[in-house]
Amino acid sequence: MQIMRDNDSKPTNAAFLTRRAKVADANQISALYKRVWDEYEKLMPRELRESRQPSVDEMREWMKRETYIVAAMGSEVVGVVGCRLMHGTCQLTHMAVDKPHRGLGIGTALVKEVIEFARSKKSHKIWLDTAPFMEEAISIYMKFGFRKSGYMSKHFWGLDIEFYELILTP
Ligand SMILES: CC(C)(COP(=O)(O)OP(=O)(O)OC[C@H]1O[C@@H](n2cnc3c(N)ncnc32)[C@H](O)[C@@H]1OP(=O)(O)O)[C@@H](O)C(=O)NCCC(=O)NCCS
Repeated sequence: MQIMRDNDSKPTNAAFLTRRAKVADANQISALYKRVWDEYEKLMPRELRESRQPSVDEMREWMKRETYIVAAMGSEVVGVVGCRLMHGTCQLTHMAVDKPHRGLGIGTALVKEVIEFARSKKSHKIWLDTAPFMEEAISIYMKFGFRKSGYMSKHFWGLDIEFYELILTP
């Protein structure tokens, strides 16, 4: 069964849809980031986790600067990703899918949306940073043709970071 909530929504499979985030979603997105980054207590420095766990007010501020796309199951926000346009590029930021809903293709659908968004804005490329142990996310980026373009040691509060990019223009 496909679910369509409003005109800018796209059905992506039987159980969820992706759509532009609304200000009214800030509450659920903030709670989702809290849950997801709390999972990384042992792997990520506290400062990094906290920098990715905005309060509702902070989330509203982020939404003024970046475009957010959510995956929703009914009224529940189960996934989110940000797109930050700068210097003719699009940075993919803060992708997260709620743990109970992983492995359903939601992350893949969100990355596809970011690619469509970046193309619509004529971005030359999409880039992102991630940690080497984020294997599920990296497998999605590679599937879409992203390549590893950099490595920074102890870049985020002592954590090594990898950069990936997908070139969109000739
Ligand atoms: C990364 C994340 C968003 C993926 O969401 P998802 O909805 O489960 O993604 P999908 O279902 O579309 O795809 C998951 C992929 O991971 C792959 N995968 C699962 N476990 C894996 C592992 N240990 N190593 C490599 N790939 C793995 C699956 O095979 C699947 O790829 P496939 O569809 O080609 O088979 C989700 O795991 C998450 O929120 N993780 C925590 C936060 C995070 O890592 N964010 C990204 C920061 S850069």
